Amino acid sequence: MSTLPSTTSEPAFGTVPAPKMVVAEAVRGSFGPARTEPTQPLSIHPFAHALHYGSACFEGLKAHRGGDDVVRLFRPDRHAARLQRTAALLHLPVPPLELIEAMLVDAVVGNLEVVPPAPGALYLRPLLLGTDPNIGAAATPSADALLVVLASPVGDYFAGGDRPLTLKVETELPRTTPAFGEAKAGANYVLALGSIRQARAEHGADQVLFAPGGDVQETGAANFLLLDQERIVTRQLDGSFLHGVTRDSVLTLARDLGLVVEERPVSIDEVLVWPGEAALAGTAAVLAGVGTLVHEGGRTTLGDGQVGPVTRQLRTALLQLQRGEVPDRHGWTRPVTDLSATS
Ligand SMILES: Cc1ncc(COP(=O)(O)O)c(C=O)c1O
Repeated sequence: MSTLPSTTSEPAFGTVPAPKMVVAEAVRGSFGPARTEPTQPLSIHPFAHALHYGSACFEGLKAHRGGDDVVRLFRPDRHAARLQRTAALLHLPVPPLELIEAMLVDAVVGNLEVVPPAPGALYLRPLLLGTDPNIGAAATPSADALLVVLASPVGDYFAGGDRPLTLKVETELPRTTPAFGEAKAGANYVLALGSIRQARAEHGADQVLFAPGGDVQETGAANFLLLDQERIVTRQLDGSFLHGVTRDSVLTLARDLGLVVEERPVSIDEVLVWPGEAALAGTAAVLAGVGTLVHEGGRTTLGDGQVGPVTRQLRTALLQLQRGEVPDRHGWTRPVTDLSATS
């Protein structure tokens, strides 16, 4: 995710390891118990499947410290379910939901003292690797696996979300293979890297908006939304893109505010003449406004080129909910300091 420069002097997003990690191993497809350990180098056999054949995937979510000092995980159930979905797509052993959720809670408990106050958060990074020690297993799934939940205190990714982003539209190169659009697999990110580096070097773009043949999917690390005072428009859920938890949360909050949500195909032609706002939704970015599109060599300003009022309103609503500042009507937050209040 660290494609955008931090505008503060804080360390870059994702570069600070929290003191503890939580580890569980699967042997012949079956996961054993989790244990909390100091964050330290992993010991992996050099023949491990993940290192050769790409059986590696991950998740990304946050725990927020509220003004009441309670630390709350945001929608851990949804992230756990998505990790299961990705694991299945990669033919990896699928960790049980209860195990993943318990490991997320353990990772927060083990690192409670380093959960920063708002606008910071504790970023959690579950990582699942195929560990079968077999370099001849290109056509065989890994039955052994390692699940590690890493944690990292992070700052405000966009320093208030005030800077409108510039996206380069990519209509030819794909972000991922058709079968892996929904997977949070490491391979997807390295596949998109060439487009992102080129967009940054040639156009000073922050991200690439992938729209093969003009059909808008998402950016390299966040979902894409069009907004105005009445509605939100975004691509319908299909296999071509990662089903963001932030996207789902923003759409729900938008409905709560009386906006109409349209989930349907979005063409780049529609985006280029959209009179309202555009934004990216993702765990790291929350909801970040898009000001400019670079397409076929030309630059198009979206709306007035600034972060729009609807984007700001929804971003604030989501952050307030994550920090426990407003009632959690949807049951999305899981307090971790007060374990007796959860189940
Ligand atoms: C490719 C991609 N799309 C979308 C998202 C947003 O997903 P979420 O809101 O669940 O973080 C991410 C970030 O995780 C991503 O990597």
